[in-house]
Parts: sequence; structure tokens; C-alpha cells
Amino acid sequence: MNPVKVFLVSLLTLLLLQICVSIDTISANESIADGETLVSSGQKFTLGFFSPGNSSKRYAGIWFTRTGFTAHSVVWVANRDNPINDTSGVLSISSEGNLVIYANNRTTPIWSTNVTTVSSAGSFTAQLSDLGNLALVRQDSNSVTWQSWDHPVNTLLPFSKLGIDYRTGLDRFLTSWKSLDDPGTGDFSLRMATEGSPETVLYEGQVPMWRTGPWDGYKANGIPEMQRNFIYNATVVSNSDEAIFTWGTINNSIISTYYIDESGLLNRALWQDQDKKWVVFYTAPTEACDYYGHCGPFGECDPYTPGAFECTCLPGFQPKNSNAWYLRDASGGCVRNPGAQVCGNGEGFVRIQNAKLPDTSVAWVNLSLDLKACELECLRNCSCMAYALANLRTGVGCTAWYGDLNDTRVFTFGGQDLYVRVDAAELAKYNKSSKGFLAKKGMVAVLVIAVAVVLILVLSVLYWWMKRKRNDPAKDESFDESLLAIDVNAIIAATNDFSSANKLGEGGFGSVYKGQLASGQEIAVKRLSTTSRQGVEEFKNEVRLISKLQHKNLVRLYGCCVHREEKMLVYEFLPNRSLDLFIFDKSKSSLLDWSKRFEIIMGIARGLLYLHQDSRLKIIHRDLKASNVLLDAAMNPKISDFGMAKIFGDDQTEANTNKVIGTYGYMSPEYAMDGLYSIKSDVFSYGVLLLEIISGRRNNYASARDNSTNLVGQIWELWAEGTSLDIVDPSLGQKCPPGEVLKCIQVGLLCVQDNPADRPTMSAVVFMLGNETTLAYPSKPVYVLNTRPSNSDSSTARTASSVNDVSVTMMEPR
Ligand SMILES: *[C@@H]1O[C@H](CO)[C@@H](O)[C@H](O)[C@H]1NC(C)=O
Ligand SMILES: *[C@@H]1O[C@H](CO)[C@@H](O)[C@H](O)[C@H]1NC(C)=O
Ligand SMILES: *[C@@H]1O[C@H](CO)[C@@H](O)[C@H](O)[C@H]1NC(C)=O
Ligand SMILES: *[C@@H]1O[C@H](CO)[C@@H](O)[C@H](O)[C@H]1NC(C)=O
Ligand SMILES: *[C@@H]1O[C@H](CO)[C@@H](O)[C@H](O)[C@H]1NC(C)=O
Ligand SMILES: *[C@@H]1O[C@H](CO)[C@@H](O)[C@H](O)[C@H]1NC(C)=O
Ligand SMILES: *[C@@H]1O[C@H](CO)[C@@H](O)[C@H](O)[C@H]1NC(C)=O
Ligand SMILES: *[C@@H]1O[C@H](CO)[C@@H](O)[C@H](O)[C@H]1NC(C)=O
Ligand SMILES: *[C@@H]1O[C@H](CO)[C@@H](O)[C@H](O)[C@H]1NC(C)=O
Ligand SMILES: *[C@@H]1O[C@H](CO)[C@@H](O)[C@H](O)[C@H]1NC(C)=O
Ligand SMILES: *[C@@H]1O[C@H](CO)[C@@H](O)[C@H](O)[C@H]1NC(C)=O
Repeated sequence: MNPVKVFLVSLLTLLLLQICVSIDTISANESIADGETLVSSGQKFTLGFFSPGNSSKRYAGIWFTRTGFTAHSVVWVANRDNPINDTSGVLSISSEGNLVIYANNRTTPIWSTNVTTVSSAGSFTAQLSDLGNLALVRQDSNSVTWQSWDHPVNTLLPFSKLGIDYRTGLDRFLTSWKSLDDPGTGDFSLRMATEGSPETVLYEGQVPMWRTGPWDGYKANGIPEMQRNFIYNATVVSNSDEAIFTWGTINNSIISTYYIDESGLLNRALWQDQDKKWVVFYTAPTEACDYYGHCGPFGECDPYTPGAFECTCLPGFQPKNSNAWYLRDASGGCVRNPGAQVCGNGEGFVRIQNAKLPDTSVAWVNLSLDLKACELECLRNCSCMAYALANLRTGVGCTAWYGDLNDTRVFTFGGQDLYVRVDAAELAKYNKSSKGFLAKKGMVAVLVIAVAVVLILVLSVLYWWMKRKRNDPAKDESFDESLLAIDVNAIIAATNDFSSANKLGEGGFGSVYKGQLASGQEIAVKRLSTTSRQGVEEFKNEVRLISKLQHKNLVRLYGCCVHREEKMLVYEFLPNRSLDLFIFDKSKSSLLDWSKRFEIIMGIARGLLYLHQDSRLKIIHRDLKASNVLLDAAMNPKISDFGMAKIFGDDQTEANTNKVIGTYGYMSPEYAMDGLYSIKSDVFSYGVLLLEIISGRRNNYASARDNSTNLVGQIWELWAEGTSLDIVDPSLGQKCPPGEVLKCIQVGLLCVQDNPADRPTMSAVVFMLGNETTLAYPSKPVYVLNTRPSNSDSSTARTASSVNDVSVTMMEPR
């Protein structure tokens, strides 16, 4: 090789190395001035000076290198309460071996780590690790004398700890920023409360605001969402050395944090590289029952009774102040029923299922007692109010409460059994009602079995008669290159000025109106209910792209209209409205016989396949559900609302609430719990929809006190027992081919498997539905949804009929 070339190459290599090898350590004689940075060895974290929000003040802090400098990317701040007014700040190691910040050439630091050591400064270095920990290391002994992880600000990074080290007295807790402009110490904190049995509590000042509940071996008892984790693991350690919460991400390349925001809410956020933004997918507290002591001592909070007051008293208790209670102020709590004898008089315990266990500051734990021994232990001491299993993973362990039962609530799913001490009278009441309930259940079961047996016999006879031909509709791909920008006056005239008589409905993205253009053509106009951050040109661009998607199973988008702040989409009008109006309606469901339903199942699959694979845009729908499938005059299914995430350019969709992330009941676990979405999230929703079409039932939530699981869980169980035909919509009568129905059920179950990788793609689904093949054995869905939309200000969202159709929104910090 030419020596000049060699020289140039080595020079280049050297230069590149120079750029890539960033400095992650400062030693005694070095410092970081404002404008300079320290970058961890794997580039994950950067330390330097910054100004938050609109502030001009300067702070030294650590942020994620990859996220850049967006809100909630700063994970630690040194001088949070001592800002610098200008860019004169310098971070260095003092002669006493402290990390210090100087400003304005002064010799007294404005901030110091305040470690007292008796050593010469020369022997200290400060290093920023790839986990975001800034550690001050004494060189001679190689010991860490101080680290930023021990002094967190508002963010808990993966692998760091929250809680107390009893050996050193170190208490690590989070405190909120004052505002997005000011990282100063705010009012809200998240701490490990160590009195009684330790648990993590969110405080406003000194007042508890929300509890995570005690650790149940798998998760925090009060965070049912934690039960299935795709991107992280968490644990609580509580022993004589320490009481800590810690967590880790399973995949190193994932950026995720817990933080308390400025309004005091605890958030779990995930950085989404594809969209370059943070997605908050867990926030607490959100609903009234989350707030500490909402129903007072010995009260119980159950948000799931539509229209009813969420507070009740624990069994054997009554409101302390019945007038206030009547006016829906339950803060006074409850007292024992008068005359109740709970000490040596035939007393016992009543079980409350799916409970968030009461405040454990008055609880006592013995991890070697089993549940029976726990009951005896609690029974024998009259001041014991309740007990529960302490560890669901090992199945042993006793938690017993000796004091007020504060902040008890129930969940639809999740939570655990709590046994509350009651007197003999209350116990007898409970025994009677539970017997009656069992008897009724038995009757129902016998009836169901009888009906099922008859049905199966008839079906088997009919099976051999029935052979169905299905036509395979060809794709309609005539692209129309011109976007119809429709004049606002034409739309106003067509919809009779958006008259309520023309309103077809309301969805997550806005209201829909029927209209008739002067030409006689019928249209559906969707008036977008948002002040989307997207500009008009971007909006038009997206609409132009989406309008090019044409398939016989997609609703045709004709064009759009932008008028001042208002944005509208104009679609073809489909006279039969949406699928949910048929399959969930007893009087109309018989209009869809099996062959029609099978065509609908196939049609939706083809439409979705087109979105995922065949179109140029590769669209993930993210909100597929029965009410988003429209039916034309011949009852052909057409998927609507596809590409909405693209059209909005953002998750931002509703004017008053915020990020639409899907609809409960249809949301895949990895999406609902970890904010991860992919085409496999749509496959999950499709599976739910398929099972709903077959059963004519919604993937509903059971009520909190009811033991039944959701539709998906029920169907799996029936399927595993070989009786899944029991779930078929009775209005289908006796006219469906069991083989085909069973195949559809199995495909549906394959689509709703917990692990996204196990779910088939839509092309596999189309293939399986259209051909005779051997299907895989679906795994049992572990995932059940435990939260409902907490739409506290909307009364309609709580009625049983509409609750499923509400696209779920996550509340932004107020
Ligand atoms: C730091 O500075 C002191 C005196 O200014 C000097 O003696 C020492 O060698 C320096 N150390 C390094 C690592 O440069
Ligand atoms: C900064 O100021 C702008 C304009 O006043 C405002 O819209 C924005 O919300 C502010 N940002 C923060 C973080 O306070
Ligand atoms: C910044 O300015 C404020 C008010 O002018 C002053 O009180 C404070 O001491 C200054 N801080 C520093 C670090 O110079
Ligand atoms: C700090 O001192 C340096 C050199 O001693 C000088 O150049 C600089 O102007 C001073 N800065 C301030 C803010 O006084
Ligand atoms: C260090 O000590 C000083 C004086 O006691 C105090 O004002 C300052 O807040 C302490 N700094 C830290 C980071 O604790
Ligand atoms: C999470 O899992 C990883 C790998 O299995 C393990 O090394 C780590 O200790 C776990 N972290 C927690 C907090 O359980
Ligand atoms: C970790 O995540 C990245 C990006 O999402 C992905 O490419 C990689 O395959 C994942 N690694 C593992 C081990 O799951
Ligand atoms: C827990 O219960 C076991 C069995 O009764 C007993 O031996 C043990 O001392 C108890 N431990 C504590 C900490 O009370
Ligand atoms: C009952 O429990 C309380 C609280 O733990 C304790 O103070 C009291 O001594 C116990 N009484 C009996 C009879 O064991
Ligand atoms: C329970 O709540 C009441 C009223 O808020 C309070 O007075 C009491 O101290 C609390 N008890 C416990 C054990 O937290
Ligand atoms: C309630 O039922 C349980 C078990 O069925 C029985 O042991 C108990 O004596 C009954 N209690 C009363 C008060 O009837």
C-alpha cells in the first residue's frame, strides 16, 4: 500500500478514535466548565450544565445522551436548590475530596457533596457510569465515598435503589421538581415507609397521597399492572439490613424511568426511538380510589359500580358520620356496627377479594406462618383487625393488621384476598349469602351444560350437510392520485351545518356526521376534536398518503377540509354503521349468520394485512375494535380510523384528555403495560375482535366481586376442556359448521397470546382461516386487564353499554 495512503488512513483512524473516546472521568486537577461535558463510556449518559425549560439559570446535571435535551430526560441535578445566574459554573473536586461547584470565580463552592474525609485531594476521581451513576472514588482504597444514586432527585434509574439502608442510615427517596423550569426541591416525594411492614408511599409534604401497597412476591400489591413485565423486572428487599425497591430493564438498549412529575404524579416512561419522544404508560394516582384514605379508616373504595358512590364500609362496619356519607364525603370513615362482639364471641373473618391491602404501617409480618396459622394468630389477639397472605410467590407468610385499616380498595383484577375480622352476626350473614350464591351458580351450570349438550348433538348432525363456499375477493388497488380538498361550505351544506340530527356518533378522534353532497353522494364527515400540534401542511400530507390506501376492506377516505383551527376528514358513508351495533345487540345479531360472520372475520383480516404489509405505509392501526369496523350495504366489513396515529402525527388526540392509546379490552399486554406497540398489538386486538364476533359478547370486565374472568380467559378455558362451542353466539342458532367455528376460535386464541412473538402475523392468520392446516396449541392467556378507564367526569363512560367503546386516554399531569 502507498505509504501516504497508510499515513492518511491511520491519521483518520486516530481522529475518529479521538472523537469516539469521550471522557467519563475527572480527576483532582481537572474540572468541567459550563459548556463542557462528561460522557459515560458507552455514551448512554451525559453530565454537564443545562438550563431547564424556559429558565436561564444554570444547573449541573446528568441526562440521557440519546434522548437529547427534552423534558424529563434530566435524571439528576447537583445544585437543584442553588442555581447559577450565568455560565461561570465549574464542577471539580475540592482539596478535601468533595465534588464541588464554583461560580463567579469565588473560592467558596455554591454546592458540595459535603463528604467529610481526612485525605489529600489528589487521590479522588469522579466517574460517570453507563448506568447514570456519578461516583466519587478514593483512589488509594478504591472505595466510593459518595454517589449520585444515593441522592436521587425526581428520577429512579434502572438498577438504582429507593429506600433505606439500616446499616448506614442512608435514606434514598425521590422529590419532585418545583416546575419544568425549576428543578428545585418540590413538595412531592416517594419514600420507603418503614414503620410496620415497609411499603413505598407517595407524599405531598408529610401527608400520604398514594401507596404502592406491600410487595406480594411478584409485584406491588397496589399496582396490578406490574404483574406481567416485558421490558423490566422489579423487586423489593426487606430485611434487617435494608428496605429497598429496585428495578432493572431487561434489554440494555431500552431507555425507561420512574419519575415524580411537577404535579406529584408518579410516572413510568419509555423512550420511543421511532417517534423520538417519551411515552408515559403508567401514572399514579389517577382515580379517586387511588388517593390515600379516600374512604376513611375502615372504608373500602370500589370504583367499578356504575353510578354508585365508590365508598362502602368494610364488612361489619358502618359510616361514622352517615350525613356526611350521604353527601358523599367518606373521609370520616367507618366504625364497628354497634353491639358487635369481636372478642371471644364466635367471631371470624370475611374475605374481600381483589383487595389493595390496607396501610401496612400498623401491620406485622411473619414470613414462615401459612395462611391457616395466620388466621389463628390473628384470631387469638383481639386487637388484630385483619390478615392476608404475605407472599403470593411462596404461598406462605402472614401479614396481620393491629390498628386502623386505612386505604383499602378493590381492583377488578389483581389485588389479593384480605380477611377482615367480623362478629358472629356478620359472619352468619356472609355464610348465608355465599351459600345462596353457590346454589344459584350450580343451577346455572347445570342448565348451561344441558343446553350445550343439545347444541353439540344438533350441530354434529348438521355438520355433514353444511358445506360453505366462500369467494375470495380480489384486491381493489386503483390508486387515485389526486386528493380531494373539499370546500368547507360544501361540508356545512351537506351536514346541515353539523346538525345534531346528522350526528352519527362520537369516537376517540372526534364527532362523525352524515352528509349529502350536492351531487347526491353520501359522505361521513369526521370533525377532529383536537388542537393537534401538527401543522396544516403536515396534516394534508398525511391525509394525502392515507387516502391512497385503498382496499375493499378499508373505509375509503375521500379527502379532507381545513378551515381555520378545524380539521375534517371526509369518508365514504356506510349505511349499516358499525359491527358492534350488530354483534352485541340481541335483536340484530341474528342478521349476521355464520357465513356472513366468517366473511367479516376474513375481510377484517385482509384489511389489516393490507395495512401491515401490502400498503406502502405499513400502518399499525392501534385501535382496532368492533365499533371501528363499519359495514356497507351488503354487510362487507370496512376498517375505519386506520392511520389516525399518522394523521395526528402524534398520540395527541383528544381535546380535553390526552393520549389515546387504544381501548381497554382490545389492548395487548405489552402495549397496555409497557407502551410497546407493533403489528402484533393489532394482531392481539384482531384476536379479541374475532372471539367477540363468534361469541356475540364483549371482552368485558367482570365486576370486582365477581369471580369470573374476561371473555378471552373464559374461551381459553372452554377451549382447553374441548367445550369451546359453548361460547358461540346463541343467535347463530344451529347453523354453523363446528369445524370452521373451532378453527376460528383457535386462531383467535393464537392471536391473543401474551407473548407478541408467539402471535401469528396477519398473513398467517389469513392463511390459517382460508386453508385446512394444523394449528398450533395456543398458550393460556395470563394477561387480564385490571384497570378501567377512569373517566370520572363523564357519566356515560361508566354505563355498562358504552364503557368498552371509550378509547382509553392517559391523563397528563394536571
Ligand atoms: C495535580 O496538581 C498538583 C499541583 O498542582 C501536582 O502536584 C499533581 O501532579 C497534579 N496531578 C495530576 C494527576 O496531574
Ligand atoms: C416556555 O415558554 C413558552 C412561551 O411562553 C410556553 O409556551 C412554554 O410552555 C414554556 N415552557 C415551559 C417548560 O415552561
Ligand atoms: C443569582 O442572583 C440572585 C439574585 O440576583 C442572587 O441572590 C444569587 O446569589 C445569585 N447566585 C449566584 C450563584 O450568583
Ligand atoms: C474569572 O477569572 C478569570 C481569570 O482569572 C477571568 O478571565 C474571568 O473574567 C473571571 N470571570 C468572572 C466572571 O469574574
Ligand atoms: C452541604 O452543607 C452546606 C452547609 O451545611 C449546606 O448548606 C448544603 O445544602 C449541603 N449540600 C448538600 C448537597 O447537602
Ligand atoms: C432483573 O433481571 C436481571 C437478569 O435476569 C438480573 O440480573 C437483575 O438482577 C434483575 N433485577 C431485579 C431488580 O430483579
Ligand atoms: C433490545 O432492543 C433492541 C431495540 O429495541 C432490539 O433490536 C434488540 O433485539 C433487543 N435485544 C434483546 C436481547 O431483546
Ligand atoms: C414466625 O413464626 C414462627 C412459627 O410460629 C416462629 O418460630 C418465629 O419466631 C416467628 N418469627 C417472628 C419474627 O416472629
Ligand atoms: C396483641 O397485639 C398487640 C399488638 O401487636 C400487642 O401489643 C398485644 O400484647 C397483643 N395481645 C396479646 C394478648 O397477645
Ligand atoms: C388512618 O387514618 C386516620 C384518618 O386519616 C388517621 O388519623 C390515622 O392515624 C390513620 N392510621 C394509620 C394506621 O395510618
Ligand atoms: C360459616 O361457615 C363456616 C364454614 O362453612 C363454618 O365453619 C362457620 O361455623 C359458619 N359460621 C357461622 C356463624 O355460621
